[in-house]
Amino acid sequence: PKPCEVTPAIIMKTYACQRRTPLKHHNSFLTEPLEILAENAEFSENEGRSIAFRRSAAVLKALPHVVRAMDELKDLPCLGEHSLRVIKEILEDGTSSEVESTRQSEQFQAMKALTGVFGVGVRTADRWFREGLRSPLDLIHTGQKLNHAQQAGVQHYNDLNTPVTKKEAMVISDIVERAVKAVLPGAIIILTGGFRRGKEVGHDVDFLITHPEEGAEERLMPKIVNWLEEQGLLLYQKTTRNSYLESKDGPARPPSNMDRFERCFSIFKLEQSKMDSDTQVEASSYNSSTTDGPEERHSGSRWRAVRVDLVVSPYSQFAFATLGWTGSKLFERELRRWAGQEKGMSLSSHALYDSKQQRYLQANSEEEIFAHLGLEYIPPSERNA
Ligand code: GTP
Ligand code: MN
Ligand code: MN
Repeated sequence: PKPCEVTPAIIMKTYACQRRTPLKHHNSFLTEPLEILAENAEFSENEGRSIAFRRSAAVLKALPHVVRAMDELKDLPCLGEHSLRVIKEILEDGTSSEVESTRQSEQFQAMKALTGVFGVGVRTADRWFREGLRSPLDLIHTGQKLNHAQQAGVQHYNDLNTPVTKKEAMVISDIVERAVKAVLPGAIIILTGGFRRGKEVGHDVDFLITHPEEGAEERLMPKIVNWLEEQGLLLYQKTTRNSYLESKDGPARPPSNMDRFERCFSIFKLEQSKMDSDTQVEASSYNSSTTDGPEERHSGSRWRAVRVDLVVSPYSQFAFATLGWTGSKLFERELRRWAGQEKGMSLSSHALYDSKQQRYLQANSEEEIFAHLGLEYIPPSERNA
């Protein structure tokens, strides 16, 4: 053998925000099972365990090759005893008995179905599970008391559990652009979330809105929402102010201008275009046979419900908001952990606070935030941890 033909050692950094994680990787046969266990841990409100499985999966997503044997894993960080046991079983037998029995379990399936209802979190789903409920239809049959979000969630259950395509996201982008430009000329709108990371489908469409003139964005959300409502484009919306102050994102109290942070969780009524109506008929009639059933469905008009998140940020916080709403969730979590544990800083979607210097660090771009954090810049398409 030629002396130089040694496989170079892969340097795998400890934090996901130090690594490039592409959307398409080589080890789904291992990461999907690990993420089932992570999800199951979330259902039991065991956050530590869930994070451990997610970190293991993220390391495997960043590997440039398919894992074939256990000894390829010996120098990798984040792989705990439990994850290694699961990986070993899959490499040897093709499947993990723990993962398969989790997948099949009544509790996992019911929790998946119940948390799949928009507006239903793990706590509520778990209470319903213990009361014997297993599916959204059980909620209807037993006449459960539901809040407005949950009512919309049950009503549009099938649509909201049908992945949103990039094409649909683009149609919604056009609508949001029109709405925002109509009520605030000069505003800037960007697509965030999974679609910004290059995903082909998503569970919703996320937008971040700002205006170069600081303060011009104030009270913008109600105007956007009114415009959309007047056009009959919304099936549900809940607008929130001040969500940052209630969140557990950052330690230090933010400057007072953060009170302006506004966001809206909504469900859009998306007209299915005539062009692809042939391919939509099937999906549409499938939907109307279940819990989605407004009259219009049966009288010819074709539309579907799509979850949309809108966030308005002051211009001075736009870079932080962009970084914070691009994800992935694990990538964000790792950025904040890196900031806190390695840099003595506190990062949120609003600001970066340096505890040593006791001051906020300004940034006009994501690149500048990575630089403040002493991290190599990772583009959105490589944040799929
Ligand atoms: P899919 O929508 O499932 O395709 O993936 P996604 O990555 O777009 O997930 P999601 O829409 O749930 O979230 C998008 C990004 O917004 C993620 O990075 C989240 O961390 C972030 N995010 C979601 N909810 C909140 C929130 O309440 N506060 C903040 N600051 N960020 C949030
Ligand atoms: Mn999203
Ligand atoms: Mn979202």
